[in-house]
Amino acid sequence: MSEAVTPIGGTGTTALPAGFDPTAEAVEKTLCFRGFWAWFVLLLLIGICALFVMWLLRKCIQGPAYRKANRIDGKVVIVTGCNTGIGKETVLELARRGAKVYMACRDPGRCEAARIEIMDRTQNQQLFNRSLDLGSLESVRNFVARFKAEESRLDLLINNAGIMACPRSLTADGYEQQLGVNHLGHFLLTNLLLDRLKQSTPSRIVVVSSAAHLFGRINREDLMSERKYSKFFGAYSQSKLANILFTRKLSVLLKDTGVTVNCCHPGVVRTELNRHFAGPAWMKSALQVVSLYFFKTPRAGAQTTLRLALDPSLESSTGGYYSDSMRFPLVPWARSTDTADWLWRESEKLVGLPPIEPPPAQNGNGSTNGSANGNGSPGTAAAETVDTVVVNRS
Ligand SMILES: NC(=O)c1ccc[n+]([C@@H]2O[C@H](COP(=O)([O-])OP(=O)(O)OC[C@H]3O[C@@H](n4cnc5c(N)ncnc54)[C@H](OP(=O)(O)O)[C@@H]3O)[C@@H](O)[C@H]2O)c1
Repeated sequence: MSEAVTPIGGTGTTALPAGFDPTAEAVEKTLCFRGFWAWFVLLLLIGICALFVMWLLRKCIQGPAYRKANRIDGKVVIVTGCNTGIGKETVLELARRGAKVYMACRDPGRCEAARIEIMDRTQNQQLFNRSLDLGSLESVRNFVARFKAEESRLDLLINNAGIMACPRSLTADGYEQQLGVNHLGHFLLTNLLLDRLKQSTPSRIVVVSSAAHLFGRINREDLMSERKYSKFFGAYSQSKLANILFTRKLSVLLKDTGVTVNCCHPGVVRTELNRHFAGPAWMKSALQVVSLYFFKTPRAGAQTTLRLALDPSLESSTGGYYSDSMRFPLVPWARSTDTADWLWRESEKLVGLPPIEPPPAQNGNGSTNGSANGNGSPGTAAAETVDTVVVNRS
């Protein structure tokens, strides 16, 4: 049996199901509606929190930026390997601050493209495209000869260029490519420019190394990786450790000259450095996607270099290793004076420079005094008692 219900305000008679309570129905609808909004707001809050955490993490990954506004109008700067990546961003910022920059690159076409772009963006016309192949000692010497003919001063040298994990190959002079480009080329370049740096004090050298030095060892028996070649953990890491040992030794040699030298790890940066990555294509694509979020931008990667190059508060700091713009302590094998001395002497021989220091004293049985490692290399004690004789390399 059904009852006829007259709707409120209605005129006709509409049949409603038995037991239907319009008030309860209205309350239920309101509750459902509220439930929907409650879920919506909850999910929105979770989304906002997740986005905030991701933004925060991304900010942490990018590291601190160099924010001091000091200008370096007219200061003469050389940056190696600056047609792309960290080097290009470094030049961009130095140009914004008024520097006169010599862009030292191995590919003149790519260098010119970067130079024009930076000039357009900064309105600084004092940028110069210069040819430098760090894998050729002759090219390094030619670059220095031309630079010295053009400039009587050098305020800032940034050794930035680098290659990573390439298949084994040799430089024009027959040295293992990664050690040759990352260390030996820069070793010769810096030594040949020391006189200009000393004439322009206070002046600075910045060496871009890498945290990969943690995996590296200087292989005295096989420096050129002839017997065994491991492209990342062996040769690349060794070359980046060499950058640090070079920085530390040079800081001692340049003590009280007004020239400082520091090195840094720029972070893990999304650049062309992994161009020799040999994995499958899908892995390369996946890495590209992951790197969009988890790697630093080249601009962020340049910030530690920029702080070392620009920060007035670091004017007398030397021999340090920096990451995310902070000075970090080094592992024992990266602060070994014995290894640094050995590498310095070996590098001098390899690039054909006269010794900057007298050779370490020999003892009666033909080995050097204070040998610490039993493989015939000079020990720390001997090296530390030798007076430092800083000579001009020009
Ligand atoms: N990206 C990272 O995650 C990372 C991490 C730690 C350390 N680093 C260091 O940061 C520095 C800059 O690397 P990046 O990431 O900016 O790499 P990148 O984008 O590949 O730039 C490297 C630069 O070095 C130049 N270069 C390579 N071989 C050279 C040679 N024989 N002579 C002269 N220039 C040469 C390259 O020139 P071409 O374009 O002509 O090849 C390029 O301009 C390197 O020393 C690298 O070891 C990078």
